[in-house]
Amino acid sequence: MKNDLLEVLVEISEKMNSIFDVNDLLPSIISIAREYLGVKRSSLMLIHGNRLSISAHSGFEIDPHNIEIALGEGIAGKVAETGMETVVNLSEESREEMGYRASSFMSVPVKTNNKVIGVLNLTDKEHDYFTEDDVRIARYIASQCALGIERFNLVRDMRKSENLRIIGMLNSSIAHDIKNLLNIVQSYLELIDITELDGEVADYIESIHSEVKRIHGLTLDLLDFSRQKVSINLVRFRVSELFNDLRKQFRVLTRDTAVEVEFINNGDPELWLDREKIFRMLFNLIANAVDVLGDKGTVRISACAAGGCCEFDIYDNGRGIPQDTINKIFDPFFTSGKIKGTGLGLAIVKMIVEAHSGFICVDSKPDEYTVFKVRVPLRYEPT
Ligand SMILES: Nc1ncnc2c1ncn2[C@@H]1O[C@H](COP(=O)(O)OP(=O)(O)OP(=O)(O)O)[C@@H](O)[C@H]1O
Ligand SMILES: [Mg+2]
Repeated sequence: MKNDLLEVLVEISEKMNSIFDVNDLLPSIISIAREYLGVKRSSLMLIHGNRLSISAHSGFEIDPHNIEIALGEGIAGKVAETGMETVVNLSEESREEMGYRASSFMSVPVKTNNKVIGVLNLTDKEHDYFTEDDVRIARYIASQCALGIERFNLVRDMRKSENLRIIGMLNSSIAHDIKNLLNIVQSYLELIDITELDGEVADYIESIHSEVKRIHGLTLDLLDFSRQKVSINLVRFRVSELFNDLRKQFRVLTRDTAVEVEFINNGDPELWLDREKIFRMLFNLIANAVDVLGDKGTVRISACAAGGCCEFDIYDNGRGIPQDTINKIFDPFFTSGKIKGTGLGLAIVKMIVEAHSGFICVDSKPDEYTVFKVRVPLRYEPT
């Protein structure tokens, strides 16, 4: 346990000045908090939607990164919901009576601009209870965490808008040309009379036709992406139609490998969504999984309807995503472990899902698996 308050304050401000990335900064502040306050465990939980999940931790015996609680649930959930700090000091008897494992617990809100974005939790002060001074230090540490997060988000948003500005410029100059060239290709394709061709060649020409259409859609997506506005072209279709197209594409793309791409379609839900965009969203997710697997492995795509939504799970048993990059994968231009990646695939996936009022999340265990979970309404209602 560190005793000198001044030493701790200096240490925290040094970390603030030398570490910019919150994925490195927060764990170091959290572990200083644990040492200085002499608690067994400390954690920082941040709010995502209506849930709290662990962002940084220290002193846990098992890796708690999968722990999630709902807002309002338990002490930390209530602090996140109300913004009121809570300190619980329990005697041995009351601990047994109330069935608590911890003898002392403190949860302090983490706020930016007066809005609660998470909570700092401190559990089990060794041989002691929390004092007023401890609470004041915890408040200071929570404020430093908030400052670090705010600074990181600000710079990230600035970079993002600069990147988007550059994509916008690229789009305006080349998307137009690509579309013109595709029109010429399409006109020539239409001149070919497929009834005069033998079956296999006719199939090839039809595939070229549909892929050209898709590239056309892609240039529109890029335009949407630079404007940050997605147009939805509602179509009624079944999951089996999507899966059949995807199966065909990935049969070709995994032809020379031992990668298995399996589709599990539970109940073949009927959807009213933008078919091409949903196709592209699944295509990007499966393409990432196939890329990661390389020569062998399994990608399993499942779909089912539940509570007015369609849920897609895209699972692979590849190398997984390291904990320190999992928060970045949806950022435009984030790419890792690839020679030719542009880092736009998942940014487009997220944009498509959110444009359909849907939700996407990822779970991964390094060297074991990755699973992306997508939930979209069965029928998109424009607002
Ligand atoms: N299934 C997965 N398993 C492991 N890592 C993944 C998986 N999916 C995505 N990633 C990681 O997320 C990063 C970002 O993915 P994203 O699709 O946005 O870009 P990319 O695949 O690198 O490039 P592209 O723009 O060509 O899609 C990847 O580079 C990879 O490191
Ligand atoms: Mg990709």
